[in-house]
Amino acid sequence: MKKITVALALFSCALVAQTSDDKSQDELKARIAPVGQVYLAGAVVENAGPKEPRTGEQVYNAACFACHTPGNALGAPGKQTADWKPRLAQGLEVLHKHALEGIRTMPARGTCADCSDDEILAAIKFMTEGV
Ligand code: HEC
Repeated sequence: MKKITVALALFSCALVAQTSDDKSQDELKARIAPVGQVYLAGAVVENAGPKEPRTGEQVYNAACFACHTPGNALGAPGKQTADWKPRLAQGLEVLHKHALEGIRTMPARGTCADCSDDEILAAIKFMTEGV
């Protein structure tokens, strides 16, 4: 019995020692990573299925409006205002790239993580309509 206790104590010391250094932490993370991936895969499957792309207006109302309302104090070009004129001069392609990657205080994808590239483009077209 005593031997088992000592063995157990040593074993748990070894475990503590092993998990407390960074390399082992990384190994541990790598070992549990597949569990997280399965969970994520499940979430993706849940959201899968035929989904109509949202219109530019829908994307704007869901994500972009938070910052792109006309007259906002953030310096974000206001929806359908002349603010867009100098930005449009860069070309739609550049605006699209900047919206996807983010630029200065503009967050990547305008915080719409589940927006497709086309949906982001549609939102830009909506915001620049009539400019
Ligand atoms: C958290 C606030 C915020 C949200 C949400 C946001 N934007 Fe922006 N956006 C900004 C700001 C601020 C700028 C101006 C950045 C600058 O030029 O310094 C900007 C600039 C832009 C530009 C111009 C980039 C350029 O090259 O001049 C585009 C295009 C754009 N946003 C698209 C979008 C779209 C599309 C959405 C919604 C999917 C969105 N933004 C959501 C804050 C936001």
